[in-house]
Formats: sequence, structure tokens, C-alpha cells
Amino acid sequence: MTRRNESMRTIAIVNQKGGCAKTTTAVNLAGCLAHDGASVLVIDLDPQAHASLALGVDPESLDENLYEVLADEGGAERLAEVVVPAGERLHVAPSGIVLSALEQKLAQDRADSRTTRLARALDALVEPYDYAIIDCPPNVGLLTFNALRAAQEVIVPVEASHFAMHGVQKLLETITLLSERLGIAPEIRILPTLYDGRTRFARETLAEMRERFGDACFDTVIRNSIKLREAARRGLPVVLVAPSSNGAADHAALAAEVAARAPVRLEAAPVAEPREIVVEFRDAGANDVRIVEFRDAGANDVRIAGDFNGWVPDRGVVSSTRQEDGARVWRKVLHLQPGTYAYRYVVDGEWREDPTNPERVPTPAGPRNSLLVVR
Ligand SMILES: Nc1ncnc2c1ncn2[C@@H]1O[C@H](COP(=O)(O)OP(=O)(O)OP(=O)(O)O)[C@@H](O)[C@H]1O
Ligand SMILES: [Mg+2]
Repeated sequence: MTRRNESMRTIAIVNQKGGCAKTTTAVNLAGCLAHDGASVLVIDLDPQAHASLALGVDPESLDENLYEVLADEGGAERLAEVVVPAGERLHVAPSGIVLSALEQKLAQDRADSRTTRLARALDALVEPYDYAIIDCPPNVGLLTFNALRAAQEVIVPVEASHFAMHGVQKLLETITLLSERLGIAPEIRILPTLYDGRTRFARETLAEMRERFGDACFDTVIRNSIKLREAARRGLPVVLVAPSSNGAADHAALAAEVAARAPVRLEAAPVAEPREIVVEFRDAGANDVRIVEFRDAGANDVRIAGDFNGWVPDRGVVSSTRQEDGARVWRKVLHLQPGTYAYRYVVDGEWREDPTNPERVPTPAGPRNSLLVVR
């Protein structure tokens, strides 16, 4: 699809996990970009309409919303009609509960028609914005498909205090799969949110995220800030309500980063020089036990992380021993139910695929995960 509005940056805020600050990010990133002089359209694709409400727009009071734009083939031209002002240089295309009926309404339509409704509506804008920021619902359904189809950039807010590598990994896989199917390649960036630096857990998980996602993780971290909740309740971006709060400072930093930094592709962390490594999987007899042997002359610390332990290194490993056997050999015993598991090694803090296992699956966030099949 050729885009008419090439100069408009369209950014989708996506995470199927509820409450990870998608709406807060959409509204306050938009608020700060507009505050800095850009023209911004917030597209509220969540039937809960939280972004509309957080921008002071009561969906109940409107006769029309995004449903009119997305429900019919001809609706694309109508986006400008449903947009309402939400501040200086700031507009919102409001949502309404009726959007939850869209998936059913379009069930019979061709996939390439029903997933490109929003993209076509944005392309049809006669007066494009500098930014269109799309707030997605907490699921990967038709509405999120439309967002991914329309966006060149994706921001994935991740709650730094309840970070589970597994969930993020799954989401990134989903986005990649979808993107491949839809023939698009959005830039994906991870944004740590709801960060409480007083807890060691949050500090550690933030470090893990940075290590894992490298440049694809924003430098900005959104700290916990009660002012963000207050601002949402008052229907205004935090920069207008409490400009000296942490919430305003963090979103201003985010806006600056978004504006300044050309989007980067989510790439693998640099891979170290290959070392001599031998890995063996051996069935210990009982059908749910796996022993993993890892040989490496240079490594000091080897852990294993995968689907089976929520991507927390060595969680669920029932015994871990290290022997000197020419090379150093790590022996890890895991209890696994039959199934297929993606995994990686964490060798001296560095996430690596298993070099001796040819079974691998691509991920958007790293080179590839290794695959372990337990029959
Ligand atoms: N940094 C923060 N500090 C304090 N409260 C926050 C912060 N970020 C978000 N919140 C609050 O957490 C709650 C969830 O945030 P938000 O609605 O942005 O998440 P969401 O991902 O959009 O949720 P949903 O999946 O339901 O759409 C809201 O009450 C919001 O005000
Ligand atoms: Mg939301």
C-alpha cells in the first residue's frame, strides 16, 4: 500500500497485557509532543475509551466515533469528521463501547479489507498530523491488527515492576508473526513503565530488559507518579496538570527521545566471539526429566532460561552442578512436561542461543531461540 501521508509518523502503543500503561503512554507522549510544538492525533482504538476520557472527551456525549470510520469500506474518508480537539495542537479520534462490536461486524469481510481500515483512513487525511499515536486495547484482535497495519513504529510499554521476559517475548513473537503475515515491518521499541526504583526487583528487571533489548529499549524510564493518575482523572495530559512532576518529566524525556531518535530495528545484542561449546540433552529415564549439559572452557556462569521457567534464568532448575572435565561442564536438571519449549543460555549474563542445537525459532528480539522438544 502506498502512503499518501508519508511525513506523518504513526506509532502504535501495543501490549496485550492489561494495565501496563498503554493509555498513559499514548496520552502523555501525545501531550508532550504537542506541548513541544508538534501536531498530534491520538487514535483511541480501545472500546474502553480510556484515552478519550483521559483527554477530556466523554464518549457518551458523542454521536460519532471511530466505529463510523472503521465499520464500512467507505468510512475511511470520514476520520477528520469524527476527530475532536483535545488541546492545543492535540486532537483525538474517540472510541466508544460500540467498537467492541467491530470484529463481529467485519467477520465476513476479506482480511485485507478489514485489517487496513485504519491505515486507509489515516492515508485519506487531507491535513495530516506530525504524529498519529494509537492506543490499543489489551488484546491482539482486529483492532490491534488495524493499528499494526497502520503504524510504522510500535512502542511496547512493559511494567518494570512485574516484568516477565516470557510475556514480552511472546508478544514480540506475535507482532513479528502478524507483521510477516501482513507484509509489514514496524520498528519496535520497549518502554519500561511503572518503575519503582526503590525495589531491588525493579532495578534488576530494568537491567535485564536493557541487556535483553539493547538499543530497542528506550533510555527513558517512566517512574511511578501519582500525578499521572490524577491527570487522567482530570482529562488532561500530565504536562498541563503537574508540569514539575516525575510523570511530566519522564514523558517529556520520552517525547524528546521519540522526536530525536530515528527508529531502530529491534536487533540482537552483540554476539560474543564463538567459544568451544558442547551441549547435550539426555533423557534421564523418567519422561519428565531433562538434563542439560553445557560445556564451555571460558564461561564462569551459565544459566538456562526458556518458556518452561518464564524466562527467569535457572528458575525451576532442580540441580545445577559444575565439573572440570577438560572444559567446564554445567549439568542442569529440569523437570519438563512433554511439549515444545523455546530457550536460551545466559552465559556470563549474555543471552545466547544454543550453538549446537540446530532446532531454532526466530524472534524479533534476538537472533533466535533454541527449541527443545520433550516427547
Ligand atoms: N507511571 C505511572 N505511575 C502511576 N500510575 C500509573 C503509571 N502509569 C499508569 N498508571 C496508572 O495505572 C493504571 C493503568 O494504566 P493504563 O490505563 O495506562 O494502562 P493500560 O495498559 O492502558 O491498561 P488497559 O490494558 O486496561 O488498556 C491507570 O490507573 C494509570 O493511571
Ligand atoms: Mg488502556
